[in-house]
Amino acid sequence: MEKDIIIKELSEKINNVKSIQELNDVKVEYTGKKGIITELQNGIKDAVDKKEYGMTLNEIKNAFNDAFNKKQEELNNLEINKKLESEKIDITLPATELPVGAPSILEKVIEDFEDVFMSMGYDVVDGPELEEDRFNFELLGLPKGHPARDAQDTFYVKGDELLMRSHTSPVQARTMLAKGGKEPVRIICPGKAYRRDDDDATHSHQFTQIEGLIVDKDIKLSDLKGTVTVICKRLFGEDTVTRFRPSYYQFTEPSVEMDISCFNCKGKGCNICKNTGWITIGGAGVVHYDVLKGCGYDPSIWSGFAFGFGAERCAMLKYGISDIRTFYNVDLREVKSFDRKDSE
Ligand code: PHE
Repeated sequence: MEKDIIIKELSEKINNVKSIQELNDVKVEYTGKKGIITELQNGIKDAVDKKEYGMTLNEIKNAFNDAFNKKQEELNNLEINKKLESEKIDITLPATELPVGAPSILEKVIEDFEDVFMSMGYDVVDGPELEEDRFNFELLGLPKGHPARDAQDTFYVKGDELLMRSHTSPVQARTMLAKGGKEPVRIICPGKAYRRDDDDATHSHQFTQIEGLIVDKDIKLSDLKGTVTVICKRLFGEDTVTRFRPSYYQFTEPSVEMDISCFNCKGKGCNICKNTGWITIGGAGVVHYDVLKGCGYDPSIWSGFAFGFGAERCAMLKYGISDIRTFYNVDLREVKSFDRKDSE
């Protein structure tokens, strides 16, 4: 048996294969039924020196197995690398753009109001949208049959007593009653209000108000003016001028309409301010004597002011939105253009 020649040959054969398939063919050639090694193994019975023969045969077998295993590993690695290469992820490719939602611009304006008021020591409180007649009207100087109720007609849910609040002012009454007439009050309440309006560019049957109430000792109309002026400068720019026009609400006395100078034309007159130079952003006043009394505060000790900003109106003015329905539209293409950018 020419051991060295056999080993040299099998090594060469194995080294030259290019695939697992070819490698397996070589395996059959050597160790199959009629394989070279198998035949050598059968030849042991005729060998003169069986021990010597067996040892040589083992050397050949080991040489075959070593070469085979080495080649197999090599081919497997090659295969894996090929696969990795073909499945490589190109991290330099631009990512697929996923549509990401964003809180609405109205939310942003409300948050801005909250930030400024909180920095002035106000608490942000909540109140029910489904309200009792008592809080929405009665305690605010609007008894049943009062003509001013017409302007605040709303959706009645159960008889005359349960209604969708027509403004956020019932939260004034609720807060004062909860405090029991003993402690000062300093709150704002942003929230939804409802009216039986026909929806158009400037009216919506559901809208948002930002109510405010302060009750303490020695609170005057001038405090209201000062507070609102600071707030408006912070929200609409330092050069904003405020104006207070006499008005009438049943729950404040005196009452005012709050105007700010038009931030677009700075008071010169443009289409945003309808050429007046001023924009109305809400109503306010000194809390009425009867309201304080009805809500448990002694008017000879306590006084306060209250205000209500129209949140959509402020957002529309600030961001140049011409139709209030935009805020409640489900058409994402329209709403998307007003998505807030947190970096702004
Ligand atoms: N609630 C009033 C409205 O909806 C606004 C307002 C609030 C007026 C607080 C005075 C004081 O029109």
